[in-house]
Amino acid sequence: MGRMRNPRRAVLYVPASNEKAIAKVSSLACDAVIFDLEDAVAPAEKVAARERLRKWFAARPQKAPELIIRVNPLASEWGTEDLLAARACAPDAILLPKVNTPRDIHDFDDMLDESDAPENLKLWIMIETPKAMLNLGALAEFGRDRAARLDCFVAGTNDLIKETGVLATPDRRYIAPWLAHMVLAARAGGLDVLDGVSNDFRDLDAFERECVEASAMGFDGKTLIHPSQIEAALRSFSPSPEAIGEAEAVRAAFALPENAGKGVISMDGRMIERLHLAQAERLLARAGKSETKA
Ligand code: COA
Ligand code: MG
Repeated sequence: MGRMRNPRRAVLYVPASNEKAIAKVSSLACDAVIFDLEDAVAPAEKVAARERLRKWFAARPQKAPELIIRVNPLASEWGTEDLLAARACAPDAILLPKVNTPRDIHDFDDMLDESDAPENLKLWIMIETPKAMLNLGALAEFGRDRAARLDCFVAGTNDLIKETGVLATPDRRYIAPWLAHMVLAARAGGLDVLDGVSNDFRDLDAFERECVEASAMGFDGKTLIHPSQIEAALRSFSPSPEAIGEAEAVRAAFALPENAGKGVISMDGRMIERLHLAQAERLLARAGKSETKA
């Protein structure tokens, strides 16, 4: 299942126009930060926000979460300047919004290649338009092409709701099928995938329920809008003590001498196959309990 990456359980949006919020970044416990130049920044503030990012990155702290910059769409009046500024900041990834078709990814890659961007600069894309939903399989294919840089899908649920007219309910029943499809496509392409934001940042109980659900759906993490949401996201997307105990039991069962070389065994009245061992090892690795083999 691909390489081990840094976890992306709690990924916080920080408007690049908000000086106080930016100043907090190095002290937050989130796994990643998305500096936003797009929808959180008013048109009159776009240029100043870009400059603020340049300054922050020039004095980039030693210890920081994974750093991503969300630019405006390339076809917008700010797109090109945003991309050049973002590239100069040298973040870990650039997040492209309003992606519709594979063409958008080709255009982005062409522009980055022209500016001699380093190979390790990754691309994240928002899945937030009806067209992106319909093109999910083709978009995910880029995950198999190293040159395309694609590393992560980010659900843009507010935009999807706006574009489709679907009713937003607390249990997200009408958008859940789209979210599940995003997870499926991401896995097909070997990509990470992050759930959309919860707007109601004062209701942490509802937020945690949404995180637990997203984790059960297979998301790697959740995008956040407020620091108060970090803790619950870290907790919900980390393997639970029960899941760790279960995985350790599976590992121990296959390690028994009498089970050496067996493809399928029984444990407490349940069938366990080698694929369950692989699944258990992956979970234990995520929990920092990898078996170190020489
Ligand atoms: N990142 C870092 N710090 C943040 C933050 C964020 N996303 N959101 C709030 N804070 C800080 C505030 O600056 C404030 O700092 P202070 O104590 O030094 O004044 C503190 O946390 C408490 O903030 P609070 O008063 O509870 O919220 P607010 O009214 O200042 O801001 C929002 C509320 C929603 C406007 C703000 O959280 C925000 O802009 N979130 C991100 C929105 C975004 O990026 N949207 C685009 C993607 S969906
Ligand atoms: Mg959006």
